[in-house]
Amino acid sequence: MAELGGKRNRFLMKNPENGDLNQYWYSKATIDAIVAEVGEFGSGGTAFLSTPSIYFSLDRDLRAKCKVFDLDTKWAKDPGFVLYDYTKPQDIPETLRGTFDMVVVDPPFVTRQVWESYTAATKLLLRPGGARLVLCSTILENAPFMEELLGASPCEFKPSIPNLVYQYSLYVNYDSKRLASCNPEIPSEA
Ligand SMILES: C[S@@+](CC[C@H](N)C(=O)[O-])C[C@H]1O[C@@H](n2cnc3c(N)ncnc32)[C@H](O)[C@@H]1O
Repeated sequence: MAELGGKRNRFLMKNPENGDLNQYWYSKATIDAIVAEVGEFGSGGTAFLSTPSIYFSLDRDLRAKCKVFDLDTKWAKDPGFVLYDYTKPQDIPETLRGTFDMVVVDPPFVTRQVWESYTAATKLLLRPGGARLVLCSTILENAPFMEELLGASPCEFKPSIPNLVYQYSLYVNYDSKRLASCNPEIPSEA
């Protein structure tokens, strides 16, 4: 819902989901929670892999230090847009490699093979010697390989993705107080 929590979310209002690209947006309140998380941990520079709703909901100053990587060229005019096909992590521009403290990921599919490609991209983008933080969305059943690939484990806070039929989990590879609490949007969590 674009209006949940009062104030409207401009991205949700302006960008209907495109089923051909498996676009399922987080709710406004979930976007707000992840934006706050990025503000706390990723303010040095965050790469948003297939997570445009978060990138476009950042404030202007923070957004200027971030990039959004996606296949949908509708955002190509944005200065932070990077054309990205997850099947080709090797195409990520040299100039962006090793330049981010945090990566936020929500792929169009949940399989291990897809996550291996996103892991390759994530590892290319994180700065050697930096904080190397990841925040990811996928199903809870993927916990064993999310730990193996990215060192990430599921949080108590589960994302609301209103038009997705199954419940996702959020995964992080660092301690997050905000995401250690249940999300009141998820009925079984309240
Ligand atoms: C499940 S949605 C995740 C969106 C996220 N929940 C949000 O609210 O921003 C999948 C995303 O992957 C993008 N996508 C689809 N195919 C892709 C591909 N081959 N490579 C990279 N991104 C792709 C879609 O455009 C969409 O932004």
